[in-house]
Amino acid sequence: MADEKSIEQMSLNDNSAVAASAIEDVVDPWNVSTSSATGVDYDKLITRFGSSKVQPALIERFETVTGHRAHHLLRRGIFFSHREFDNILTLHEKGKPFYLYTGRGPSSEAMHIGHLIPFIFTKWLQEVFDVPLVIQLTDDEKFLWKDLKLEECRRLAKENIKDIIAIGFDPAKTFIFTDFDYMSSVPEFYRNVIRVQRCVTFNQAKGIFGFDDSSCIGKIAFPAIQAVPSFSSSFPHIFGDKKDIQCLIPCAIDQDPYFRMTRDVAPRLGFRKPALLHSTFFPALQGAQTKMSASDPNSSIGLTDTDKQIKTKINKYAFSGGGATTEEHREKGGNCDVDISYQYLTFLLEDDERLEQIRKDYTSGELLTGYLKKELIEILQPLIGAHRERRKAVTDETVKEFTTPRKLNYTPSNPTAAS
Ligand code: TYM
Repeated sequence: MADEKSIEQMSLNDNSAVAASAIEDVVDPWNVSTSSATGVDYDKLITRFGSSKVQPALIERFETVTGHRAHHLLRRGIFFSHREFDNILTLHEKGKPFYLYTGRGPSSEAMHIGHLIPFIFTKWLQEVFDVPLVIQLTDDEKFLWKDLKLEECRRLAKENIKDIIAIGFDPAKTFIFTDFDYMSSVPEFYRNVIRVQRCVTFNQAKGIFGFDDSSCIGKIAFPAIQAVPSFSSSFPHIFGDKKDIQCLIPCAIDQDPYFRMTRDVAPRLGFRKPALLHSTFFPALQGAQTKMSASDPNSSIGLTDTDKQIKTKINKYAFSGGGATTEEHREKGGNCDVDISYQYLTFLLEDDERLEQIRKDYTSGELLTGYLKKELIEILQPLIGAHRERRKAVTDETVKEFTTPRKLNYTPSNPTAAS
């Protein structure tokens, strides 16, 4: 009952916060928008969602515990918020197992570069921690939310799996599944779905996800399906009968409502609450008021875009924080906080010193927008080009290798630690 109350309280808090800042920021799994040119106010979001800021001390602890330098996405505050990441570091320190879980809703054939961010980061986490990874493709979610035929959702899921594999995951440690296939083949998964569904009332689901009386019942029941990959007992072929292995979910913060709900019901079911690492959004080309969207190809750089398309899109659409004329720019300088090319460089340019030099020179007016765009194009073209090549090499056989339910090669996260 206490938990029932806490989820209700959480929803109420969330709703009142939404009302207070509705004019500026909307962030949920289906919509992201703000009226501010500098993008979503992420500090406010931390308060609203009740997560914790990734503080320098946590990054330091990560580096000490793992012996690895933090990824630039972590160092630069792009993965800015977390829930219990410190606990994951403790597990690693003690040599206790945990696993990674992330996902994709296959609503379009071509994923965009924003979607790559959580996957690139997840791949790095997997390499650092040497732990199993499960990746969920919610083809059922897209069938319920988008005007798509069921077979089309299944096809898009298969296409997206190829893009995900092309990121370079290790097949010995990675299991990729689609809901339509996995739900009908592994009974333990569906049993957990039903357990979660019994714990959450319609009233609570309305509070968390904004459902109303016209929402179809499939949508109302769906969040349980995104919740249960957080529980190790949903994957008996990987974890046997262990139901207490914690998971860590890297994702952008739009997915947090699903996992607030999951964390609330987990203890009632005797499961571990998932830990999370949340990223900011890779903004749309037109400006940080919205995130990149696959449904508007001109707002995004797609993973299938050609070199020419990349160049044209950046030159034509990437919002500039520069002055209206060269003279004005030289005099007043550029504004990196709103300049989309600079924002993209913070996600993609690994060299800290170079990025800082660009920031200084653009802010002082020495560098023009055209230079930033050129720099960005020179990073994007080989990055997307290499992805296109790796994707071409993914065959149906490779897909089968990743999607067959099987044992993964997992050892305690830090086998050298004292037990
Ligand atoms: P989807 O397909 O909308 O997004 C896939 C992943 O990409 C993140 N994301 C972004 N990250 C940075 N910048 C952006 N512009 C951007 N747009 C999307 C999302 O947060 C997500 O991590 N329901 C989910 C699929 C899912 C899932 C999960 C995601 C199922 N289980 C577990 C994360 C973790 C969805 O539709 O994601």
